[in-house]
Amino acid sequence: MTERSAKAGIGASITGWGKCMPPSVLSNHDLEQLVDTTDEWITTRTGIKERRISHVEVSDLAKVASLHALAAAGRAPGDLDLIILATCTGDSIIPSTAAVLQAKLQAWNAAAFDLNAACSGFIYSLVVATNMIKAGTHRTVLVVGAEKLHYHLDFTDRSTCVLFGDGAGAVLVEATDQPIGVLASEIGMDGSAAEILWTPRDGTAGDRDFPRPTECGIRMDGPEVFRRAVTTMGDASVRVIKAAGLELEDVDLLIPHQANVRIIDATARRLGLDPGKVFINIASYGNTSAATIPVALAEAVEEGRVQPGDDIVFAAFGAGLSWGAAVLRWGDRVEPVSVSEAALPPPDRTTMEMLQPNIDFFGQGAGQRP
Ligand code: UT7
Repeated sequence: MTERSAKAGIGASITGWGKCMPPSVLSNHDLEQLVDTTDEWITTRTGIKERRISHVEVSDLAKVASLHALAAAGRAPGDLDLIILATCTGDSIIPSTAAVLQAKLQAWNAAAFDLNAACSGFIYSLVVATNMIKAGTHRTVLVVGAEKLHYHLDFTDRSTCVLFGDGAGAVLVEATDQPIGVLASEIGMDGSAAEILWTPRDGTAGDRDFPRPTECGIRMDGPEVFRRAVTTMGDASVRVIKAAGLELEDVDLLIPHQANVRIIDATARRLGLDPGKVFINIASYGNTSAATIPVALAEAVEEGRVQPGDDIVFAAFGAGLSWGAAVLRWGDRVEPVSVSEAALPPPDRTTMEMLQPNIDFFGQGAGQRP
């Protein structure tokens, strides 16, 4: 259901932004060595040129992105009263990766939980954060999207392994008495079609004595996901723009989920948006699921693409099948209060060495799929 959230009283604005992209690059040309693909196919069908492969865990990526977001807001970890970590590739099942992040940040005053809505996870989390602040129970909420998708990629399946990458983005959401932040939003789910994008038996539905490579890893009916993503992201965006009381021409910037540049272009066309108002960075990172939007937002602010008072539309679609859209009015500050020096330790392995366990595991399953 589309929700209009511009009630009088407390609002929730984004005051800090940050990202952490691991340094190891996997290019389309590298993938040509692993599967039957070409740089030309990947570039023209997806817009992706390269993606990042993480040598650290999701909580480490999330920590660095969070420290940048906190510095940009002029806040310390002790100021946080809630952490929401959107991820579908957490460090472990128990504890939540948000708990690990809380400890790594030493954010001892913060409650923390993971939220899994796959590629829509950041929008879901932003909506939850906004509504908890508006309810008056929390005031300073860290919202993070962080993923290590390469762990779940079958490098014998060319239809999925070229699409995804690792990374993290974070925002700080704070209570405000200004009419800014999320003006309207919509989150939705169609669980009946879950099997067109899933990891079939990676959880308790699997067989722990006989993990079958063909049943683990990300499996996707790409063309079907593509069709649904274009209509759903476009239609949900139109509904939230209307619910916010805006016209399409009022939109200053669209920051869509980065899954395929052709999905982004089709969504923008459906909205009738000038391509200059669409933020696209998929060429550098591929699809980083819940991380795409907060990473893109951090880059948009850094590149001067966000101005005080701008109305920004977020839209996403992904596994579940989940979707989300939101209109966010930016505040008056586009410069960080301060800058963090936080960074990852350097990788101790080459990119190909990091992929070898996947290649070995999934290589056993080649040709076995029914
Ligand atoms: O975050 C949300 C989740 N993901 C998405 O939103 C992704 C949505 N889907 C897509 O982005 C696109 O459907 C893909 C990029 C996955 C695939 O593009 P497509 O244009 O829909 O291609 P297709 O699946 O219809 O495949 C066309 C051809 C096939 O060959 P034949 O059967 O026509 O001979 C595929 O086998 O392209 C082939 N193909 C490839 N060729 C070279 C598929 N993957 C590759 C590849 N390299 N990596």
